[in-house]
Amino acid sequence: MLHGKRILLIVAGGIAAFKSLELIRRLRERGAAVRCVVTEAGAKFVTPLSLQALSEDRVYTDMFSLTDENEMGHIQLSRDADLLVVAPATANILARMAGGMADDLAATVLLATDKPVLAAPAMNVRMWTHAATVANVETLKKRGVTFIGPNDGAMACNEHGPGRMSEPAEIVAAIESMLAVGLASARPLLEQPLAGKRALVTSGPTREAIDPVRYISNHSSGKQGHAIAAALARLGAEVTLVSGPVTVADPTGVRTVHVDSADEMLAACLAAGAIDVAVCAAAVADWKVAKPSKAKIKKKPGAQPPALDLAPNPDILATLSKPGTGRATLIVGFAAETENLVANAIDKRQRKGCDWIVANDVSPATGTFGGERNTVHLISATGVEDWPTLAKDEVAGRLAARIALHLARPRSAEAAE
Ligand code: PMT
Repeated sequence: MLHGKRILLIVAGGIAAFKSLELIRRLRERGAAVRCVVTEAGAKFVTPLSLQALSEDRVYTDMFSLTDENEMGHIQLSRDADLLVVAPATANILARMAGGMADDLAATVLLATDKPVLAAPAMNVRMWTHAATVANVETLKKRGVTFIGPNDGAMACNEHGPGRMSEPAEIVAAIESMLAVGLASARPLLEQPLAGKRALVTSGPTREAIDPVRYISNHSSGKQGHAIAAALARLGAEVTLVSGPVTVADPTGVRTVHVDSADEMLAACLAAGAIDVAVCAAAVADWKVAKPSKAKIKKKPGAQPPALDLAPNPDILATLSKPGTGRATLIVGFAAETENLVANAIDKRQRKGCDWIVANDVSPATGTFGGERNTVHLISATGVEDWPTLAKDEVAGRLAARIALHLARPRSAEAAE
């Protein structure tokens, strides 16, 4: 989505500067050209050499370098870019931007630019909530700067709260939205675009009891579904996550309901009430044991193993997708396939009645179950979009951004999709 786009990345001096390296890698993977300006403080956290190696371009540091001004003046640096990204945006650079300072190359470029600016703040929670920073951010927003984050969480300074820089995957999703729909439409979308929307996400496996100590289940870890719940919450949605038994932590800012079986998962989904969007990423067992034993089934010497009489489980996705009043505006299923991936997923979307389906190759060689990365195709009524292999949080960030765009569209556009 970023082919041919030119990003000027301004790296200021904060511990989150190390994430700028990952940001460059991800932007370049998507076809963007990245050129870096690093402040004097930024260069204490990440070396210009590393930025240069990853961007495969010169790194600009010094306003008074005759070579720099000769080869690429500070005005030209901003003219050449489609978008300026300040990441990390420290309290200091935000204050200098708000004050209209031009005391180093980064501030001068930001003052001289007429291009859209995206800032990803990163600082101690007290600095972020200080009246001076709050006022600076307000001023910058009024002048058209777009903000992403900061996120809540533990910080390097041993404090907890808002101040962590958004993850590179989230910043990339924001950049894609800004460049795809234009700045004016993207700004409200980026800042809590799902505020006021209710989302339901299913995640993890289900466990179907054979007896009190044994069960049928699968290898789902919950990583993908939990990442989606977290991504939707970050965009402002009120999220209920219905999770089968997993070891991943409950995402922050999400109401998590823990269940075991498919029957319990369905009941928890229906109890979630009216929703605007549902994402069914759980690996729900298709069958359960028809009559689970109340006592542990004993192994009798010399006897044949007991036969398991299976009964179908309720189909949660198909139930939620049934037309009628109260159906969510957008229902997204997943299709876990080991062969004929896209064809089977297209068929599954129609059979289950959901709006979009995310086709997921779960052949053992892919390591999708339990792994960190995922290769998916997003299928809607209008076609198939092949996504590159991404980290699961990136898949989640992209899907959440797509959901936000879809829910923000007028009804006529929805009908056309
Ligand atoms: O949890 P991870 O280790 O991160 O792995 C992620 C994942 C591979 C589990 C996830 O990305 C994924 O593909 N989830 C869907 C798994 C699945 O059960 O797919 P399916 O093709 O069998 O089912 C199709 C859809 O129907 C899914 O949305 C599923 O949630 C839903 N379903 C299935 C059966 C059922 N009884 N009720 C359902 O709602």
